[in-house]
Amino acid sequence: MPELPLIIMTHPLPPDWTRSLKGRVRLVVGPADYAGIAPHLVEKLGEAEGILSLLFDRVNAEILSKSPRLRVVSNMAVGVDNIDVAGCSLRKIPVGNTPDVLTDATADLTMALLLSAARRLPEAAADARDGLWKVWEPAGWLGADICGATLGIIGMGKIGKAVADRATGFGLKIIYSDNQQQTVSKGTYVSLEELLMTSDFVSIHAPLNQSTRGLLNERTLKMMKKNAILVNTARGPIVDRDALATALRDHWIAGAALDVTDPEPLPPDDPLFTLPNCLIVPHIGSATRHTRKRMAEMACENLLAGLDGKKLPYCVNPEIFQ
Ligand code: GLV
Repeated sequence: MPELPLIIMTHPLPPDWTRSLKGRVRLVVGPADYAGIAPHLVEKLGEAEGILSLLFDRVNAEILSKSPRLRVVSNMAVGVDNIDVAGCSLRKIPVGNTPDVLTDATADLTMALLLSAARRLPEAAADARDGLWKVWEPAGWLGADICGATLGIIGMGKIGKAVADRATGFGLKIIYSDNQQQTVSKGTYVSLEELLMTSDFVSIHAPLNQSTRGLLNERTLKMMKKNAILVNTARGPIVDRDALATALRDHWIAGAALDVTDPEPLPPDDPLFTLPNCLIVPHIGSATRHTRKRMAEMACENLLAGLDGKKLPYCVNPEIFQ
């Protein structure tokens, strides 16, 4: 019997999420708590025919150069900014991702962050727990009004549209910017500048690439309204971290709610953690039980299809099959 193909799984996943791999591959699995591809996995790259990666594992030119037998890269994420897709395409290595399944969960978390920051839930909850809730304070814990406010969505893809659907239900007026005008049922297309200057809430739903890296920087953060709240559930490096810290500390804007940071994980001594107007959660946009399980299953489907030399069901470089 031929030997089963060796697969690098960068981090452990629950066995019932990866059941389809049983008897089909030999797995080398990295440690749960190592942010990246662990050194003992790198040593195995020479033999590996597939990589099942998470979104913070860099499958870059160096990793590819150490992987002469690689036939598929399967990323358990919709974003593939951690993968050298061009390098894979040059070698006709298909790259898989997990689109659509996480749209609703991420849009839900976006609304949760927007509402929490607007109504100052973390501060209010901490004060209640710490015994600071002495009376019903008429002017205590005042937050921003949602109904009638304007939400600017940067990047009107599937997640942006799902956020627009939800936000409309809260009475928010939707405007959006994108590198191209979309067909949308909710929202008016505006320039990025107009969006920043007129939105009470700005939510980012664009992929990380050369044109979005650092899109929110000192110049563009200064265009935002002083009462505005920035929500980022897309990718950390779209926002310049130092400029954001200054913007929050010096009150160029009122607050930020971040599911993603630069870097990830954000070190506990990062200045952003000291700012009371900054709410940070650990990249949990897709973290619902059903969504994460389905993402893992899709990643396994992609992996197995690649090993079988078939077109991946969810592929970011399908042109390599032509
Ligand atoms: C989450 O951020 C993803 O890209 O799946």
